[in-house]
Amino acid sequence: MLTCFDVNSLRTTVREWKRHGHTIALVPTMGSLHDGHLSLLARARQLADQSVVSIFVNPIQFGHGEDYERYPSTLDADRDKLERAGLDLLFAPNLSELYPGGTEVDTRVSVPQLSDILCGEFRPGHFSGVATEVAKLLINVQPDVALFGEKDYQQLLVIRRMTRDLLLPVEIVGMPIVREADGLAMSSRNAYLDAAQRRTASHINATLRAAKRELESGAVELAGFERRHAQVLAEHGMRPEYFSVRRADDLAQPRAGDRELVILAAAWLGAARLIDNIRVSLATPWSEA
Ligand code: PAJ
Repeated sequence: MLTCFDVNSLRTTVREWKRHGHTIALVPTMGSLHDGHLSLLARARQLADQSVVSIFVNPIQFGHGEDYERYPSTLDADRDKLERAGLDLLFAPNLSELYPGGTEVDTRVSVPQLSDILCGEFRPGHFSGVATEVAKLLINVQPDVALFGEKDYQQLLVIRRMTRDLLLPVEIVGMPIVREADGLAMSSRNAYLDAAQRRTASHINATLRAAKRELESGAVELAGFERRHAQVLAEHGMRPEYFSVRRADDLAQPRAGDRELVILAAAWLGAARLIDNIRVSLATPWSEA
């Protein structure tokens, strides 16, 4: 496994690979790796000749007062996991490599509309921060494919739209959510939970699954449905930010005739902001009760 800490050596390796006609798959991460990340790498290795994982805790996607300063970092353990998983190249740049002009007055990529709803409403600037960093990675790694988890469903759609709008020649592959045995979506932020909170956290997925069953069994009145399920999370001691049913392809409100939906939730539990979602394919097209 090669490790590059700077953009120049990354470019040199990529040039060499391209000269040999090799294809490249990229998996961007913020490190603190778990089996969700590793599932992306396993698929990356099937899809291309060379695999690249980036580890970079991207300051511009964190808001003021968020967890940038305390985001978990386990670089040595991450390197071992990646090496054992057969990674070809780890890209672990420092801040000034990716932001040579600093992070206060620099060029940004923004993806309108999609970035302003759901998580974007509660984390202004977050998706522009993600899009900017991922654009830099795509431009420098020049991958044929880049893989992202459906765990961050809105992020996946933001990145798909960015690559479409900027005409970036890369295929974006979405990967299923990897979960703990009790249904909790794996996340680096689960490390913030104490033992009691960790037990409570499984209710996010359980509530999403119950909501899915309800949608599949007949029409619902949407606002009341969302409020009721958010209330279930609150009763379990969480502080829900949203519990929302959306169209799967653009996260707009469901319209009559839609079949492909996604239910998304974000809730605080202690110091952890947890997100999860579940896809719903309706046998009978959507209509509101
Ligand atoms: P991070 O949270 O480290 O996640 C890196 C990638 O792993 C993302 O595509 C995310 O959706 C995926 N992932 C995380 N948990 C997963 C799970 N349980 N199952 C499947 N995939 C999972 O997302 C980011 O970092 C950053 O925003 C990034 C895209 C790297 C930009 O900074």
